[in-house]
Amino acid sequence: KEIVVSGIRSTGYLHLGNYFGAIRNYIRMQETFNCYFFVADWHSLTTHPDPKDLRGNVFRVLAENIASGLDPEKVALYVQSDVPEIAELYLLLNMLAYMGELEKVPTFKDKVRLQPQNVNAGLLTYPVLMSADILIHRAVKVPVGKDQEQHLEMARNYAQRFNSRYGDLFPEPMAFNFGDNLVKIPSLDGVGKMSKSENQMATLYLSDDDELIRKKMKKAKTDSGPVEPGMPMPESIENLFLLMDQVSTPDVIKHFRDAYDNQSLRYGDMKAQLGDDMVNFIAPIREKALALQNDATYLNRIMKEGAEKARESAAQTLQQARKLIGIHYY
Ligand code: TYM
Repeated sequence: KEIVVSGIRSTGYLHLGNYFGAIRNYIRMQETFNCYFFVADWHSLTTHPDPKDLRGNVFRVLAENIASGLDPEKVALYVQSDVPEIAELYLLLNMLAYMGELEKVPTFKDKVRLQPQNVNAGLLTYPVLMSADILIHRAVKVPVGKDQEQHLEMARNYAQRFNSRYGDLFPEPMAFNFGDNLVKIPSLDGVGKMSKSENQMATLYLSDDDELIRKKMKKAKTDSGPVEPGMPMPESIENLFLLMDQVSTPDVIKHFRDAYDNQSLRYGDMKAQLGDDMVNFIAPIREKALALQNDATYLNRIMKEGAEKARESAAQTLQQARKLIGIHYY
């Protein structure tokens, strides 16, 4: 079975971008692949979260994954910090990572812009830790959204560098999405991708209540009026159709596409429909997650079992990495 790894940072409530970029793939992949899915709590430390928030943040991501349909019996679902082997591989990979290339990573440059008061080395080496997450299980497929594409390229670089210096150990991990192209769910305000940290009203969270979902959809950007025939579809409308493609039935999608084509589409109607369809999609996940999130006994059991599976695989890789590097003295 092919090995799959992917992680989600525990930095806040999960949103539709996380769902359609990552989790939807997890759920399909769990049936046929050997899957390792984890909560990236170490990665969340780059922004110095309040220590008392960590546990709740980790529980929430676990609960939202399970509520979305991830089955801890079928996959290893674990928390990154429960697998210390990852940290050791990270240390080893750091010797193969060059300052120049790390400084050029766009996500690093964004952080320098967004948090200039806290440009720590953990931010700089973020892609190295992420590579360790992936390479520790010798994964070949990594289900992620489009924003992670460059990080995957770096993981392949480190795999190659390690292999050519020390001997073959790591296969090259590829970013993966069912349906080929990696997904980028747009923000509702028409500015860039949906994300945890930016405009809250432009992000649909799996935890949003029905009223808030409808309100956010209603406010979604559709500034441009009707479009002359033959002109390209405005980006804001394209974004609405993209969302509709994810959650609405084929009949509904066809109805609104036809309306657009014969210039009778009323954006308000489309957003109202999307509001309803989003509610139908999100509400069951929200309710399940809410119930799970407070079940510490269950979540702790899941985490432990997941960590056990993950450590078994991680220890094997690490042992071989040490040996190839020459760290075997006894
Ligand atoms: P994170 O926590 O920001 O996001 C988790 C997953 O959600 C995807 N995603 C999106 N996909 C489509 N459209 C969007 N608007 C959108 N927003 C987020 C992300 O691509 C990701 O798949 N560095 C990673 C976490 C990580 C990881 C790993 C992932 C750490 N180690 C190893 C894979 C393998 C991150 O910050 O994702």
